[in-house]
Amino acid sequence: MSDDDRDRWDGRYRSLPPAEPDDGRLPTVFQPFAHLFPTDGTALDVACGRGTAAVWLARRGLTVRGYDISPVAVAQAGVLAQRCGCTGASFAVADLDDGLPPGDPVDVLLCANFRDRRLDEAMRYRVRAGGLLAVSALSEVGATPGRYRAAPGELRRAFSTFDVIASGEADGQAWVLARR
Ligand SMILES: C[S@@+](CC[C@H](N)C(=O)[O-])C[C@H]1O[C@@H](n2cnc3c(N)ncnc32)[C@H](O)[C@@H]1O
Repeated sequence: MSDDDRDRWDGRYRSLPPAEPDDGRLPTVFQPFAHLFPTDGTALDVACGRGTAAVWLARRGLTVRGYDISPVAVAQAGVLAQRCGCTGASFAVADLDDGLPPGDPVDVLLCANFRDRRLDEAMRYRVRAGGLLAVSALSEVGATPGRYRAAPGELRRAFSTFDVIASGEADGQAWVLARR
């Protein structure tokens, strides 16, 4: 990622009000399936932003690692986790253009509102057998095509070796919840 892009994300996060403990929640599309998320084990939040989903996972009982390119977002995520008393959540700056940082397979892999096809294989392998994968991204379905938008059926194809629990594609958003 270019420095300009990083600065743009930093600027966006700086302009937002600080996330509050009540903001700690799963992305909307996954909320109806909250009960399927385990209450212990490990989780990875890819492109975690301000850590609101990671904090939800940590409150649920998971030990969570979140990565994002924006140092501002990562700092805000750390503050949010501290305010929530989530000792099981940690965050680090990482440029996912360089790939997924190495680590052990996890029980939950969340990647919300971020799409980089080059990461698909690494994400598939990072979920342990029986683990949960939750991916959402902008979609071309119900919107005009764009570089960061998933093509019709793209997410389901990318994770077709998993058992799909639920998926959706409409109004410019695509998502899939699946078990390895
Ligand atoms: C739309 S936000 C989604 C954030 C969070 N997952 C959520 O759902 O609120 C996209 C995130 O991707 C991060 N990002 C963009 N390019 C990245 C890269 N190359 N490496 C790591 N993170 C990146 C941005 O900083 C931003 O936090």
